[in-house]
Amino acid sequence: MSNESTNKQLYLKRYPQGIAGPEDFEVREAAIPTIGAGQLLIRSHYLGVDAALRLIMRDSDEFLFRVQPGDLVHGSVAGEVIESNHPDFRAGDFVNGSTGIQEYAVSDGSGLEKCDTSLAPLGSWLGGFGVSGLTAYFALTEECKPQPGQTVLVNGAAGAVGSMAGQMAKLAGARTIGITSSAAKCRWLKETLGYDVAINYNAGDLYQQLETAAPERIDVIFDNVGGNILDESLRFINTRGVVLLCGSTSQYSQEEMLGPRNYIWLGTMRARMQGFVVFDYADRYTQARNRMSKWIASGHLVLPEHAVDGTVSDFPAVFQRMYQGENLGKTLVRLPAAS
Ligand SMILES: NC(=O)c1ccc[n+]([C@@H]2O[C@H](COP(=O)([O-])OP(=O)(O)OC[C@H]3O[C@@H](n4cnc5c(N)ncnc54)[C@H](OP(=O)(O)O)[C@@H]3O)[C@@H](O)[C@H]2O)c1
Repeated sequence: MSNESTNKQLYLKRYPQGIAGPEDFEVREAAIPTIGAGQLLIRSHYLGVDAALRLIMRDSDEFLFRVQPGDLVHGSVAGEVIESNHPDFRAGDFVNGSTGIQEYAVSDGSGLEKCDTSLAPLGSWLGGFGVSGLTAYFALTEECKPQPGQTVLVNGAAGAVGSMAGQMAKLAGARTIGITSSAAKCRWLKETLGYDVAINYNAGDLYQQLETAAPERIDVIFDNVGGNILDESLRFINTRGVVLLCGSTSQYSQEEMLGPRNYIWLGTMRARMQGFVVFDYADRYTQARNRMSKWIASGHLVLPEHAVDGTVSDFPAVFQRMYQGENLGKTLVRLPAAS
């Protein structure tokens, strides 16, 4: 039972095996925290459901962050400041930050961003106008640099990052190919995001579908998922092409994460693989958002969201269904506080 005077929080119960599900998490209720000098209290409105969370819930210390059994689940949240003893924040400000999957959080302000909701709705600051969109923006403009007429392939194309990458590649003048898991999602890629070609990796031979889709080969592979989908695509990389390693969603739930098989094509095609972390560009987020705002205003960019109404308790099931491909765009849990 939840009541409005408690803080519902999500903890990791055990390391997940395979795709994480509700049985791997535990909901606890604590008192709403109080703030001290220099601190502020945030009430969460939106919980960001990020594919990368599965990567850090592994029994391994290889990655930047780690969530272990008994830890509050790490996650990005957008919400409202409801009390502040901090000189830079006032009650009523909207903010986002990695304050964890919980209803209320105390912060000293570090790592928080103010959200101007006249630029984009609050939830979008976790999605297309937040890290997902910024990832697509900097990966494309700084690393891949697609030229007009070139071919850009995005896998995980209907997801939070992929849906933004496809639109931005199109804005750069590229021909875009998106890969996703169903005919309905393929339709959405073409009709809503403007992909030139959409491939359903569950419908027949992927190699043949790629061969038909990319007769002049592929200049940029924007890789969100890794695994077999990346492997088949590598056979079509163009001379001096770029394979942008954004993420490897297909591997995060595997006991043993496997690397690319067909890398040999990179050698013969003088192509390169490029690692990427969006946080390297943190000092340029405002510049990117200014440009994105113009694209939004001119109708050339949409911020797709899959917002599910629920509570902190619903987060695990929404996370699981995202891994099963339910989402179009950024997956969010919209808490009652948002209404
Ligand atoms: N480098 C960076 O700085 C950075 C920043 C943010 C995110 N990322 C990475 O970007 C990637 C996408 O993250 P996101 O938050 O935008 O998630 P997302 O793409 O919105 O959601 C995950 C999607 O992955 C696909 N998927 C799940 N299991 C799969 C499998 N076995 N094979 C193929 N596709 C599978 C599903 O789409 P389908 O229906 O199409 O299968 C699902 O909807 C992640 O790998 C994440 O780590 C990187």
